Amino acid sequence: MIAFCQHFQAQDTDLILTSNPKSGTTWLKALLFTIVTRTRYPLAENPVLFTNPHKLVPSFEFNLYNPSFYFEGNRDPRILSTHAPYDDVLPTSIKDSKCRIVYICRNPLDQFMSNWHFFVKLPSETQSSIHCLDETFNRFCSGIVFFGPFWDHILGYWKASQEKPNKVLFLKYEDLQEDIVFHTKLLAEFLGFPFSVEEERHGVVEEVSRLCSFENLKNLDVNSKGQLFPGRDKSDFFRKAKVGDWSNYLTPSMVEQMKKLIQEKFEGSGLTF
Ligand code: A3P
Repeated sequence: MIAFCQHFQAQDTDLILTSNPKSGTTWLKALLFTIVTRTRYPLAENPVLFTNPHKLVPSFEFNLYNPSFYFEGNRDPRILSTHAPYDDVLPTSIKDSKCRIVYICRNPLDQFMSNWHFFVKLPSETQSSIHCLDETFNRFCSGIVFFGPFWDHILGYWKASQEKPNKVLFLKYEDLQEDIVFHTKLLAEFLGFPFSVEEERHGVVEEVSRLCSFENLKNLDVNSKGQLFPGRDKSDFFRKAKVGDWSNYLTPSMVEQMKKLIQEKFEGSGLTF
């Protein structure tokens, strides 16, 4: 992360995907890659069908600044990703260049649950796993989590998107779930790869959206079989994709605590969850 922050030189044509972990990064990687490359390959042969999204759009901190990484997608424009918070961490070369940034966040309750399943969950539903959920929840609410407190992460990109709407596009996972066709079009326009009238007439927006849908990606061999890296199955990135899944796990007092925190941290920002 330090090497990335100190040395990365952005190009004006770069497209930088930024996100809070477990907020829809994999989905957005697939969407960005497919939108940008849709005229390079027929949709039925798009690499997203044969290559895991995390290999097509590498992460700065996990892949690019790790010499063992094998990167298959480096073409102009470069599509790169990071979980780095905007304030104090994202390299100034990204902020100062003309490259575009797309950010995705998610309702913190669902983000927490997805995070818990991904990083912490114990194999069986035992007393100790419930205890572990409790402890992890308290740490999350105190801001002790990878890439920092969720409120700083979200507000950093939110403010940047308000100040520079042509540079930073701010998205919410729930909005994409509600209307993916609208957001696929929005993304394409923002990235500088708008759909033509002809493409719209032929249903290409819907096709791209379908190609990158949870149901489609989850079942591809490239996303369901084997490991992405040692100790991490590819299928771990495709769990349930349900908005509001937190209600199956969190106690009423946890929900109340988190809702209060959200209210307190986002008050006056114009952002709601
Ligand atoms: P759940 O754990 O709630 O199922 P990330 O990609 O940032 O790690 O986020 C992972 C979350 O996004 C997981 O949520 C995962 O199931 C969901 N997800 C992965 N691919 C998706 C897709 N194509 N559409 C919608 N959600 C997706």
